[in-house]
Amino acid sequence: MEQIPIAGPWITQREIDYVTDAVTRAWYGNANIYHERFEKAFADYLGVRFAISLPSCTSAIHLSLLALGVGGGDEVIVPDITWIASAAPITYVGATPVFADIDPKTWCLSAESFEKCITSRTKAVIPVDLYGNMPDMAEIQNVAKRHHIPIIEDAAEAIGSEHRGQKAGGFGDTGVFSFHGSKTLTTGEGGMLVTDREDICHRVVFLRDHGREPGDRNFYNTEVAYKYKMSSMQAALGLAQLERIEELITRKRQIFTWYQKQLASVEGVTLNYEPPGTKNTYWMVTVILDQRFGIEKGCLMELMDNRNIHCRPFFHPLSSLPAYENLEQSRRARQRNQKSYQISPYGINLPSALNMTQEKIRYICDVLKSILQQ
Ligand SMILES: Cc1ncc(COP(=O)(O)O)c(C=O)c1O
Repeated sequence: MEQIPIAGPWITQREIDYVTDAVTRAWYGNANIYHERFEKAFADYLGVRFAISLPSCTSAIHLSLLALGVGGGDEVIVPDITWIASAAPITYVGATPVFADIDPKTWCLSAESFEKCITSRTKAVIPVDLYGNMPDMAEIQNVAKRHHIPIIEDAAEAIGSEHRGQKAGGFGDTGVFSFHGSKTLTTGEGGMLVTDREDICHRVVFLRDHGREPGDRNFYNTEVAYKYKMSSMQAALGLAQLERIEELITRKRQIFTWYQKQLASVEGVTLNYEPPGTKNTYWMVTVILDQRFGIEKGCLMELMDNRNIHCRPFFHPLSSLPAYENLEQSRRARQRNQKSYQISPYGINLPSALNMTQEKIRYICDVLKSILQQ
């Protein structure tokens, strides 16, 4: 079997046509035509008022924090299990990350742990829609409301997921998305910030262009800010992908169903959960092995790799990473976050690229089953 990559996009003639058109025509007076179409279509898709295109989801989290006024001395709560990009911007603005535990079924932020982590310094919470799943958003919103804490919903991995009929990304003061090459909808690199709040939209648009008012032709900066802009070619690619979003999500769900069919009957293997009332878009199909197999994720990845199957480790708890080694909050999280530490060592992401076939999935599952039988 040829190498099976962990992730990858689904590109059609539509994407090629739009990008070709952008690179040919989207200059001079037309420089923003694809940004405008992509942002408008994205806001309509999500059912929010504003969508602002950015070079990454990391920059979208950074600008969300700045627009919410988070800064030095503040604390921001984030789940211990996520990619470091959810938390790194907290450090950029001089605030401190507080790592909360996850729910053992959804693997997303536990509302209970979130509430326990709140202090008088808490200025925001960043729930993460992990691997396309969603946390109990209604409960997280309740806790946040009771304590007057703004929400930045990290929907980087969850375009098209839904909770009680509402799309991922629409639950917070801001929602943020990633269009990295591994994501369900890709622009190569790229991101989007969505919000219903006009004040936040205005501030983000100002901050992403070196502290200038939109339309400023005088090159007159009133603050030192950032250069966080997406290119036309990326916006064109994003628009083409967004026009195919239902097809992309259907494929992701199909890939999960193929895996489920092969693995559902294997004892001691847990796959991604879809809670009642939630639509999971399964960005990454994930397996957690029962501890009794005695196989940790690093070992399992190596065994899969020997058979040309590229996997990824379930995220390590952020509080276990050298990057956060010297943080007092990490020490507390290591004691508090039992679920994160119980689950993380035994999980891997299986290949979930959009070009997966049923045949490849059968091969991957056969390899996995043979490893577990040894
Ligand atoms: C949960 C989560 N948040 C944030 C990001 C950051 O996205 P980007 O790479 O577009 O900055 C990612 C990307 O992998 C992610 O998975």
